[in-house]
Amino acid sequence: MTFSCLSHLHCPKCRAVYPADEVQQLCACGSPLLAAYDLDDVKKRLTPELLSRRPPDLWRYHELLPVRAGKHVVTLGEGMTPLLPMPRIGAEMGIRRLYMKDEGILPTGTFKARGAAVGVSKAKELGVTELAMPTNGNAGAAWSLYAARAGIGVSIVMPVGAPLINRKECAIAGARLHLVEGTIRDAGAIVGRAIQEHGWFDASTLKEPYRIEGKKTMGLEIVEQFGWRVPDVILYPTGGGVGLIGIYKAMRELAALGWISGRLPRLVAVQASGCAPIVRAWEEKRRESEVWPHPSTVAFGIQVPKALGDFLVLEALYETDGCAVAVEDAVLLLEMERVARTEGVFVCPEGAAAFSAARFLRENGWIGDDETVVVLNTGCGLKYPETVQAEAPVLQAQDRI
Ligand SMILES: Cc1ncc(COP(=O)(O)O)c(C=O)c1O
Ligand SMILES: [Zn+2]
Repeated sequence: MTFSCLSHLHCPKCRAVYPADEVQQLCACGSPLLAAYDLDDVKKRLTPELLSRRPPDLWRYHELLPVRAGKHVVTLGEGMTPLLPMPRIGAEMGIRRLYMKDEGILPTGTFKARGAAVGVSKAKELGVTELAMPTNGNAGAAWSLYAARAGIGVSIVMPVGAPLINRKECAIAGARLHLVEGTIRDAGAIVGRAIQEHGWFDASTLKEPYRIEGKKTMGLEIVEQFGWRVPDVILYPTGGGVGLIGIYKAMRELAALGWISGRLPRLVAVQASGCAPIVRAWEEKRRESEVWPHPSTVAFGIQVPKALGDFLVLEALYETDGCAVAVEDAVLLLEMERVARTEGVFVCPEGAAAFSAARFLRENGWIGDDETVVVLNTGCGLKYPETVQAEAPVLQAQDRI
């Protein structure tokens, strides 16, 4: 039985083609590689009706994922997260059909579980025994835990400023954890040298082709959950941009399969004002971004001064008539509170930024009041306890309130 219809890897920059059944990192030209599938074969094997009878996890899309043999799947039960209507905060914003895809309930508390599940499974299938990666925290945590389940050794380098919980997740999983005085770019440089020296597999964002395939399943799920219809707008908190590129890739594959038709959703890259290289590039109509100097935001997951896949993120924005929006920390922190108070969900600061961006884009008319809008909450607020103040009076047992 064919589990995956993966056909080959290709370079979106120089069009080079690579075989998919050996370890690959970047293209010789320095660009990330993308996975291609035999979509005619997928069409023969799979229908939306058949899919609806499969278990509710991301492996239901296995023909469109890169792992060749089911026995190599490393899973913690990730996928098929709820697509929740957000009527109260939607009404407040003037967006009647506002939905939130809640990635906060995934293993390790963020959508990074998707990339880790697929990336680690494929690494295992290809015989990888040691991998290394720089991270802003959540990805390192997810990869450490999935790699532990796969029996793969992991080295992680993360900024000292990353949320403490992420360090602890790596530590409990037995990863070799290092901290760096600097940003994820500095962490990346250290990992790059270590890869050269030790011959480890480089699991850095987009330096291996399969993490994006896991993140692509967010897009597949959104469409399936809407009954094979696409929403008008999807807002995504963008750091390295893999999620956004993945969602765009999902939409294109579904269109090629003929399972969706018409306009693709307008994709919105949301960043923090303290680190907004993609927003700046989009405003200047450029195809690539510049390194953001002195990045700083509480939404640590999106603090990426320059993404390797920036040109792919920008292409996705231009091709879908999307846009890019930057949000101040004070604004997104207020939004976190609003979402919790109106809808009962403790979203992460990155997700809150995407809600703020939806509010802003409705206010300026870019989003219409009858449009269907999806906000990605990429993680659980529980992973960011330091973002919430909880002052409370301390009582004695006999006190009254
Ligand atoms: C919670 C959260 N949201 C969003 C992002 C950004 O992800 P991407 O690299 O897909 O842009 C991250 C990355 O670390 C994250 O941890
Ligand atoms: Zn190339």
